[in-house]
Amino acid sequence: MISDNLTVSENGELLFVGRSTVELLAKYGSPLYVMDEARIRARMRQYAEAMRAAFGESALPLYASKACSFKEIYRIASAEGIGVDVVSAGEIFTAHSAGFPMEKAYFHGNNKTDEEIRLAMEVGVGYFVVDSIDELNAVDEAAAQAGITQKILLRITPGIDTHTYEAVNTGKVDSKFGNAIETGQAANITARAMEKPHLALMGFHCHVGSQVFDSDTFFRSADIMLAFIADMKKQYGFVTRELDLGGGYGVRYTENDPTIDLADNIRQVGEHLRASCAALALEMPAVRLEPGRSIVADAGLTLYTVGTVKHIPGYKTYVTVDGGMGDNPRFALYGSAYTVLCANKMTQAADMVCDVVGKYCESGDIVQPAVSLPSSVCRSDILAVTTTGAYNYSMASNYNRIPRLPIVLLTADGGEKVVVRRETLDDLVQYDL
Ligand code: LLP
Repeated sequence: MISDNLTVSENGELLFVGRSTVELLAKYGSPLYVMDEARIRARMRQYAEAMRAAFGESALPLYASKACSFKEIYRIASAEGIGVDVVSAGEIFTAHSAGFPMEKAYFHGNNKTDEEIRLAMEVGVGYFVVDSIDELNAVDEAAAQAGITQKILLRITPGIDTHTYEAVNTGKVDSKFGNAIETGQAANITARAMEKPHLALMGFHCHVGSQVFDSDTFFRSADIMLAFIADMKKQYGFVTRELDLGGGYGVRYTENDPTIDLADNIRQVGEHLRASCAALALEMPAVRLEPGRSIVADAGLTLYTVGTVKHIPGYKTYVTVDGGMGDNPRFALYGSAYTVLCANKMTQAADMVCDVVGKYCESGDIVQPAVSLPSSVCRSDILAVTTTGAYNYSMASNYNRIPRLPIVLLTADGGEKVVVRRETLDDLVQYDL
C-alpha cells in the first residue's frame, strides 16, 4: 500500500486507520474527505523532535497551513507545540478563532494588504515574513500606529531551481516572491529593515520549492543563505537570530514516488548547517522549517461513489465519480499523479485501465487518467483517492455550484468527528442578494 495507514479487510474493503471506508461513506455521505489525526500528530512530532535533535532546542517546525486549513488543525498544531505559517486574513482568522497562540504564527505572502496587516497585528501574529520594500514600509507604519515593535524575517530568493514543476517553484531569481541576493535587493532590504524603528529584524526566510525529495536542495539553499548571513554580518554588523528554510519535503502520491526518511534528512541538514556555520564563524541561528504537504498529505483520503461507467469501443473507458476538480483541482492544474483504489473491491484484480473523471462540466475534469480498476466496477462502487490531505480541501471550489465536502477526522483516541461540515445548497446561495 501507498501509505501504512491503509489496509484491506478480510471482506475486501479498504480500511483507513483500521476503519472501513465503506462504512464511513455510508455514515457521512459521498463524496467525503477523511483525515487521520494520529498521522498528522505523528508527523508534527517527527518534525519537532528531528529538528530539535538536528538544530538544537531553539528549532521549531511551522505547519504551512495553506496545505490544509480548518480550525481543528490549528488546535492540533497548538497541542503539539509547533508554530504555523499563515498567508492570509482567512488563515489568520481561522487560527486565531481556534485559539492558536498567535505569537507562534509567521505571516507570509507577497502582497499583504493593509487590512491584513492590521488584523495580524491586532491578534498578535508573532512574525511577519516581509517580501518587499513596499511591504517593509507598510508594516513599519502599521506597527508605529499600533504602538508595537513587530518582529520580522525578510524573504530572500536564493536563486535555486529545484527542478520541480514550474508552478510551485518559488526560489528562482525571477520570482514574484522575495528579494534576490544576486541583484543586491536582499542586501538593500536588510539595510532598510535595520533602520526601521518599529521593526525588529530577526533573520531571514527562503523557500526553494515543493515536493522536494533530496536534502541536497536544502544544503544548497542553506549554503547560499549562510553566505548571505555572513555577508550581512560583515557589511552591517547584523547578527541573524533566525533562519527559516521554508517547506518542501515530498510525499508519495503513487508507488513510483520514493519514501523519504524525514528524521534522517533533517539530521543531515543539521550536520551540514553546523559545519557551514563553523566554517563561516557564525552562531547557529534558530532554525525554522515550514512543512505543509508532508504533514497532512498521507493523513488524508477522498472517497467517491461511482455514477457511470462508459466504454467507448476502440478508445477507452470512463469511470465517473460524484466529485472531481471542485474537491481536487490538482490534476487539472498540475497533472498531478494520484493512486485510485476501488474501496469495496480491494481483493478483485485491477484488470481494467480507465480514466477516472469527475462530474464537473468540462473535459479537463479528470481525477486521474489510466487507472487500473477491477473490470466489474459499476454504479454505487466506492473509489478512494489516497494522499489527498494536502492542497485538496484548501484548494476546493464551488465550481458548477457543487457544495464542498466535509472532513471527517478519525481521532487519535479511536473516535471520529466531523471537523468541517458538508456544505448545503443553502450555503451556496447565502451570499447572493
Ligand atoms: N513555505 C512557503 C513559503 C511556501 O510557499 C510553501 C508552499 C510551503 C512553506 C509549504 O510547502 P510544502 O511543504 O507544502 O511543499 N498548491 C500546490 C503547492 C503550492 C505550494 C506553495 N507553497 C500543490 O497543490 O502542489
